Amino acid sequence: MLKIYDDKTKIMRERCTNVTLPLLKEDEDMLWQMLDYLKKSQDDQYAQKHNIRSGVGLAAPQVGVKKRMFVIYYKKKDKDDKEIEVQYALINPKIVSNSARKCALKGGEGCLSVKEDKDGYVFRYYKIVLNAFDLIQNKEVNIVAFGYDAIVLQHELDHLDGILYYDHINKKDPFKVVPNSQLI
Ligand code: CO
Repeated sequence: MLKIYDDKTKIMRERCTNVTLPLLKEDEDMLWQMLDYLKKSQDDQYAQKHNIRSGVGLAAPQVGVKKRMFVIYYKKKDKDDKEIEVQYALINPKIVSNSARKCALKGGEGCLSVKEDKDGYVFRYYKIVLNAFDLIQNKEVNIVAFGYDAIVLQHELDHLDGILYYDHINKKDPFKVVPNSQLI
């Protein structure tokens, strides 16, 4: 099972390096392992048995690999109330455009590498277009994401630059709302 490094670890504050494409076998294997870890973390019985926390995203530095890649996995309801899976294994992701509008989760964010949740709003772009190579689709993608989906992607992207979610929380006034934003 993968070992998850916490926010006190040096690698969590470093800038990760670009990944060569086509993927090395070791990088590909690691991404599949990371995706598997996330899926299992969302199985209550498995998580309890192995004493792991549930997560929706995992970036390479969190498992000790200083490379620009991360995975996300969660289920959500689409507009017809049908359950769909959101899953990506992204390599060398970059934001190619973003909205001026921001958003933040009402309940704040959490992170597998941050043991105790830190209270406060983390404002991020409401909408982004993210360019990356996606191992799951095995092609370059431009992902258009809004709201929660955009937040998860930006949280993981931050990990590749050594940034943690609580870095974005206003120290003096953690629940201060920024202009042109919404809570979701
Ligand atoms: Co995180």
